[in-house]
Amino acid sequence: MTDPIPQTPILQTQALTKAFGALVAVSNVSLDFAEGRVHAIIGPNGAGKTTLINLLSGDLLPTQGTIAYRGEDITHLPSNAVSQMGIGRSYQKTNIFPDFTCLQNCWLGAQSRLNTSMKFLRPARTYRRVMERAERAIEQCGLTHRRDTRAAAMSYGEQRQLEIGMMLATEPGLLLLDEPLAGMGPDESGQVIDLIKRLSQHHTVILIEHDMDAVFAVADLLTVMVNGEVLETGTPDQIRASQAVQDAYLGTEDGGHHG
Ligand SMILES: Nc1ncnc2c1ncn2[C@@H]1O[C@H](COP(=O)(O)OP(=O)(O)O)[C@@H](O)[C@H]1O
Ligand SMILES: [Mg+2]
Repeated sequence: MTDPIPQTPILQTQALTKAFGALVAVSNVSLDFAEGRVHAIIGPNGAGKTTLINLLSGDLLPTQGTIAYRGEDITHLPSNAVSQMGIGRSYQKTNIFPDFTCLQNCWLGAQSRLNTSMKFLRPARTYRRVMERAERAIEQCGLTHRRDTRAAAMSYGEQRQLEIGMMLATEPGLLLLDEPLAGMGPDESGQVIDLIKRLSQHHTVILIEHDMDAVFAVADLLTVMVNGEVLETGTPDQIRASQAVQDAYLGTEDGGHHG
């Protein structure tokens, strides 16, 4: 975890702000995300976590502020361009195609990133590369035994795993995960937590998750958001010990169970 050489963050936001009319959902957020780390964003329901992810992924345009990925300004890029640069995201609600098999879903994921970057290659070669990526993604997300199963026939937990697979098929360097454990039972959660741990060996991860046991088990760093603002950033130990966080969030009766 400790690195003597200061690195440029893989992702950096400066004074990032998103207002919906009078409501400021994300307010003046300046954060550095270090390469190779799992950085969790926690906070009560409505804190602005999903909106922040939507800004980072290009699904929403900020009202103010900037976003830099590997030193490059991506503030105004649309989501497909952000994905092309290597930022993958999963959604809080599942986003798969139920009538397609695992392989076909991952194929679509791979295709979405490769279709423009490989437009100079012959179709047969493009097809082969897309297929290789899809097969690799299925293996990475732990669904090899489900390769040719229709998504609709799988359990909810497997569908969420597949969604991560579709994102992996784009071969992202940075993963944005919005509540990957939502709606899962303990067994399924355990599998996805293991998957996140495995992925974190080769990816930078920004994780929104309300399951505090999971968050504290996988995160290197945590940022606490409340009312659109960053309350505090620190290691799991620092956040656990923080009085401000206790008061604003963790200390509340049901603090660990908000979306
Ligand atoms: N598209 C939208 N239009 C208007 N208000 C929104 C929109 N998206 C989110 N909000 C509001 O912004 C605030 C933050 O929401 P959100 O980012 O979803 O919080 P979280 O993910 O932390 O629960 C909430 O008050 C929510 O109602
Ligand atoms: Mg949310």
